[in-house]
Amino acid sequence: MTSSQHTTKPLLKAVIPAAGLGTRFLPATKANPKEMLPLVDKPAIQYVVEEAASAGLTDILMITGRNKRALEDHFDRNYELESLLAKKGDTAKLALVDASSNLGQVHYARQGDPKGLGHAVLCAAAHVGDEPFAVLLGDDLIDPRDPLLTRMIEVRERFGGTVVALTPVPADRSHLYGCAAVEPTDAGEDVLRLTELVEKPAPGTAPSSLAVIGRYVLDPAVFDVLRETAPGAGGEIQLTDALNTLAANGEPVHGVVFDGRRYDTGDRADYLKATVRLAAEREDLGPEFRDWLRKFVANELTD
Ligand code: UTP
Repeated sequence: MTSSQHTTKPLLKAVIPAAGLGTRFLPATKANPKEMLPLVDKPAIQYVVEEAASAGLTDILMITGRNKRALEDHFDRNYELESLLAKKGDTAKLALVDASSNLGQVHYARQGDPKGLGHAVLCAAAHVGDEPFAVLLGDDLIDPRDPLLTRMIEVRERFGGTVVALTPVPADRSHLYGCAAVEPTDAGEDVLRLTELVEKPAPGTAPSSLAVIGRYVLDPAVFDVLRETAPGAGGEIQLTDALNTLAANGEPVHGVVFDGRRYDTGDRADYLKATVRLAAEREDLGPEFRDWLRKFVANELTD
């Protein structure tokens, strides 16, 4: 499919890859998916599903692997718990339990072997079919107050093709990301055209300071490219490599620069920062927690 033929079907489906091994979080992830780690009292993956739903994407395909049960159970009904809470008249908790099973239609596909993000996305081909779709990484949290996906969908409507999310990273961290070579567009300062994408560039060789983060709006043309994409960095089939092929073939690939609040919850330090921020901002826990935190930081903690 060429750029002029990209599908103009509306965007309704979201794919959430959650089949990675989560080795940075061992041993917590030995038997549990890292996407189920809670931020305060809600698993990371629920924030991501809520983000998709609030961007109007209510058909959600989760790519799971080993230890998938907790993910499936979380988005399913729990009749026993519901009837117990109903009997007790605990409507507040009942609403919380209900909320996670009413976020849209959640489907599952299994990635037998975690052969990389590109391979995980390819596992969505049969479900997605010939429609554009969003990809939200299951361990990447975007603060709902800084809506990114909605802006990316607007950019896709204007240019078609592929839209990725970009964020500036310091030069000494570029080698951890996919990095982009970019040109300006007339669609606003936050929208750039991508001419090249490099996964995990060797130190000092990144084409810019802009790195790809975990939100994508993809044309189904990506599936054919992924089928032909050989394993790249780390021996994994890289989504970045497939997107680079699309850009090299002259397909439209755009980036939306995001400078809002974002947490990579697969990284332990970021996970802790996200937990502290979300707890401090909560109406119920915040006042007590902030008070404690202030004292803790000032070294006044006595216990
Ligand atoms: P990461 O590289 O952050 O996940 O992938 P990982 O491999 O689980 O983490 P570490 O490095 O071992 O700690 C980003 C996202 O892509 C998914 C992951 O679940 C995560 O949400 N992923 C990654 C897959 O679904 N399949 C894969 O083969 C690789």
